[in-house]
Amino acid sequence: MIFNIRTEIINKFQLNRNKSAAVLFIVDSKSMKNELAATLNELGIELNKIQLEKFLKKDETELISVLPKGKPDLMLIKKINADKSFNQDFFRNYLSDVIQKLNDYEIDNLQLQIPDEKKVERKFPSYNYCLQTIAEGIYLGNYNFNIYKSDKKKPKNIMVSLITGDAAAVKTAFEKGKNIIESVSFARDMINEPAITLTPQEMYIRSKKELTKHGIKVNLFDKKKLTQKKMNAILAVGNASANPPLLMIMRYKPSVKPKRKIALVGKGVTYDTGGLSIKPTLGMNEMNADMAGAGTVVGIMIAAAKLKLPVELIGVTPLVENMISGGSYKPGDVVKTSSGKSIEVKDTDAEGRIVLADALEFASKEKPDEIIDFATLTGAVAVALGLFIAGVFSRDEELITKLVAAGNKTHERLWAMPFFDDYNDLIKSDIADVSNLGPRWGGAITAGKFLEHFVDKSIPWAHIDLAGPALKHKSTSYTEKYNTAFGVRLIVDYLQTI
Ligand code: BES
Ligand code: MN
Ligand code: ZN
Repeated sequence: MIFNIRTEIINKFQLNRNKSAAVLFIVDSKSMKNELAATLNELGIELNKIQLEKFLKKDETELISVLPKGKPDLMLIKKINADKSFNQDFFRNYLSDVIQKLNDYEIDNLQLQIPDEKKVERKFPSYNYCLQTIAEGIYLGNYNFNIYKSDKKKPKNIMVSLITGDAAAVKTAFEKGKNIIESVSFARDMINEPAITLTPQEMYIRSKKELTKHGIKVNLFDKKKLTQKKMNAILAVGNASANPPLLMIMRYKPSVKPKRKIALVGKGVTYDTGGLSIKPTLGMNEMNADMAGAGTVVGIMIAAAKLKLPVELIGVTPLVENMISGGSYKPGDVVKTSSGKSIEVKDTDAEGRIVLADALEFASKEKPDEIIDFATLTGAVAVALGLFIAGVFSRDEELITKLVAAGNKTHERLWAMPFFDDYNDLIKSDIADVSNLGPRWGGAITAGKFLEHFVDKSIPWAHIDLAGPALKHKSTSYTEKYNTAFGVRLIVDYLQTI
């Protein structure tokens, strides 16, 4: 947390305040010059002429001015371009950047002019959603992970003053946005945590503490229970670690009759060395985030409870460390899963799909109306799509359409990948029911096809491979520095459409 944020609603700029920053938006149009002059005149602010001219003419999109005598000390004017750079992520991305920038100034008040409906209606499905993205931008930008820095500073207090004539709508949107981003941030803290601290046990303890605060029931299968349940896939992958494997099961029930029952399954490999098929150092050093799928599931559950969404959710997250020791599972091993189906282990680094086999089988037995799984499953998906977008694999066109739409809205974008049955030929095994390794080409697809073996065919199911965007990447100001908990905002939005 950079700032300790409080919010208030005001109806115009309060230019007499000390240590204040002001943000205003101006639409790029023919009358922009007059509009800007009128606004600045009204505010009694004079800005540097050269800067102003440059801002008006060129493709410069932001004007930052530090006023020597203050009031406000810092003036930020952001141009809303009519072209494609003005999209549903515009305010999220820009305001997250602003919050981070403010950390460099002695500011304790941010006065933010909320653009009115006319300025933004073209781009957003509703004004309320636009307001929500403004709130999300502020809280996303406020995230940091600095607990291990010895020179870390205490969060500074800041009052964010929202200038609007629509107080009720802004207040509601900010409450919602804050609840969602608090859930995202909780997941991010776990995903960013080094594996030396975040063991399977620690992830369970932290998650349970937060989940139970929100009325979510949490259940744990330890090694003994996993053995009883014949979950040999989870046991095999976790067997080399000093930190034993676990399966965490979470249940959220709304107070009203649920519209639908949905199972959310997440890969929770708290560290992935690759096992005996060991990874090179370069490939290993971000593998503390290999539990991002499970972290995302925890984040969604918390958000659903906070927002009181009218759906029933079951979260299923295997938590394991893929390590090396005398107890390691080995290439050549055959593992019999809880479904009775056997897996030939050809590569111990394809461990995610193995632990998910038992988890998906468990989720299927709960007879949900649909199953969605989240996993940092393959490097191949990032080769195919890059780091900005996750792959979605499903045979259910309707589910794909809804998820992709939610992805575009939340800017946690998905791309539907091919999922043809002939890819199954590539993961046939001579000695077991399925092999955990396909050829190099189409690696994300064969991984998805492998998972399909363990899902009840009568239940609509989507697999989301988020190995790219779950990890930090340079696409927006709020994904650049820290792992993202990709998927929380996406699914929270999706759950509101069903
Ligand atoms: N956790 C990795 C996938 C991954 C790679 C996630 C990079 C995030 C960033 C996964 O367990 C893995 O090792 N996959 C292998 C599969 C291969 C052995 C078939 C891969 O992608 O190379
Ligand atoms: Mn692996
Ligand atoms: Zn992995």
